[in-house]
Amino acid sequence: MKILMVCLGNICRSPLAEGILRKKAADNDLHWTIDSAGTNGYHTGEAPHHLSQKVAKLNGIDISTQLSRKFTPDDFENYDLIYVMADDVYQDIKRMSGNKFNERKLKFFLEELQGVKADVPDPWYGDEDGYIDVYKLIDETCDAIVHEAIQQTEK
Ligand code: 4NP
Repeated sequence: MKILMVCLGNICRSPLAEGILRKKAADNDLHWTIDSAGTNGYHTGEAPHHLSQKVAKLNGIDISTQLSRKFTPDDFENYDLIYVMADDVYQDIKRMSGNKFNERKLKFFLEELQGVKADVPDPWYGDEDGYIDVYKLIDETCDAIVHEAIQQTEK
């Protein structure tokens, strides 16, 4: 299973989702490849935002070596499942992907926790509290994804 997490800048939300899900998958013997990307490319080559790094580290997860990259339409060929952090990200992907766009591979990340196509709030314009809240939300959603996968394998 190859999973791609996508947000706008690939420095705040999706790097957290990548690092957290990678850790939980490994802890549960799920052999998944997990990566992340951003639709705007403004931060290509940069490490995650220092506050995303900080909250991850406080929770025992090191995301410091992950580097931002821009989403590409070829990601539809290279991944089985693409999680979007928000509707603007979904719309960007649709606009950028032309005939490679594949709705069946796209899912709203929060749908796995809340059952609805909701947005993960963008902490980029806020303070540290926003990063703490977003960490919790992403952590709970990754728990739900792993729990569902384990249930499927036990069926
Ligand atoms: P992210 O947050 O999509 O969660 O990485 C953002 C980071 C940077 C920008 C927008 C959102 N930006 O426009 O630079």
